[in-house]
Amino acid sequence: MVSVTIKNLTKKYGETVAVKDLNLEIKDQEFFILLGPSGCGKTTTLLCIAGLLKPDEGEVWLGNELVSSSGRDMHVTPQKREVAMMFQDYAIYPHMTVFKNIAFPLEVRGKDKREIVERVTTTAKLLGISQLLDRKPKQLSGGQRQRVALGRAIVRKPRVFLLDEPLANLDAKLRVKTRTELKELQRKLGVTTVYVTHDQVEAMTMADRIIVQRDGVTEQIGTPDELYNRPANLFVAGFIGSPEMNFTDCTLIKDGKKLWLDAKEFKIPVPAEIVPKLESYVGEDVIMGIRPEDLYEREFVKEGTQKNAFRMTVDIIEHVGPYLLLYLRKGRLSLVARVKHTKAGVGQEASIEMDLSKIHLFDKKTTKAIL
Ligand SMILES: Nc1ncnc2c1ncn2[C@@H]1O[C@H](COP(=O)(O)OP(=O)(O)O)[C@@H](O)[C@H]1O
Ligand SMILES: [Mg+2]
Repeated sequence: MVSVTIKNLTKKYGETVAVKDLNLEIKDQEFFILLGPSGCGKTTTLLCIAGLLKPDEGEVWLGNELVSSSGRDMHVTPQKREVAMMFQDYAIYPHMTVFKNIAFPLEVRGKDKREIVERVTTTAKLLGISQLLDRKPKQLSGGQRQRVALGRAIVRKPRVFLLDEPLANLDAKLRVKTRTELKELQRKLGVTTVYVTHDQVEAMTMADRIIVQRDGVTEQIGTPDELYNRPANLFVAGFIGSPEMNFTDCTLIKDGKKLWLDAKEFKIPVPAEIVPKLESYVGEDVIMGIRPEDLYEREFVKEGTQKNAFRMTVDIIEHVGPYLLLYLRKGRLSLVARVKHTKAGVGQEASIEMDLSKIHLFDKKTTKAIL
């Protein structure tokens, strides 16, 4: 088990820069997730760690061992890296039993029979598939097949797991269940894991830390909590969270000592504690963000806690089990609020309050977070 360090890694395919100047320090035993929309360079990053691709620039380290370096023109082969990789389209051999499938990487490496039996048995037990060892893949469900593929990766006791969208082929319910199991398994095995997904919910629920990538560029690295509560820029703020954060253009205006965020449809006072940070933006256009769960209907807010209601029309009410989504409109402004109850009906007006301690502000030019 080792840490994984990536220094100034760039990888191109012809003109396409798939990964640009990536820097990462993944800790030993960490569950680290590469997150971003399709085509942002996640798989390319993973293949560079595995050694299946050679970076154009930069270095890859496994613990203290330098495994790729453009400067020294060195590149350790995938076989010698002792990492296991599992792809979305994992292939398990249809003519082999489950036992044989899991044993395969050990047989290739010439391990002796007794060790193979012992390791395969332990692995199968860990994955809860002991009773399936004599079956062929076609006698398995999708979830069971996925586990066999995972077993084949685990059985080698690799130093690092590299998993590329491993749950993508499972149905929604099984995906949620497997998410938890995989996380538990990783903790039990204590193997450093680099996991690729485009699904922000998957990333948020499983990761110790996440990197958000876009077009080969790093947008932010942090814990799920940091990404959610302190997004570094507009892209991360919009990418993480569902339904996504509400955004609206505002102007910062000064009135005596007070600052106001003026969105035309409403005007809200800037909380005193953040005024100093915003002085330099007076008169400027900024983008304000507020998450749906930080909007409330006034009737359900405790007296005396807030004083910033503005009236909006309820366009749609969506019932999502534990909560309701209110699609609100006023002039050009549309907001989504996530609430527990509502007194308003579709087409009616509601008094909406905003938790001012939860607003996010972004520089309109750079899209970087101001707060
Ligand atoms: N073998 C390839 N040849 C040319 N371009 C590629 C190749 N593989 C990936 N790319 C391009 O590199 C970029 C990053 O791809 P990839 O790492 O697969 O992204 P992700 O896994 O995040 O979807 C994309 O623009 C993709 O089209
Ligand atoms: Mg990919």
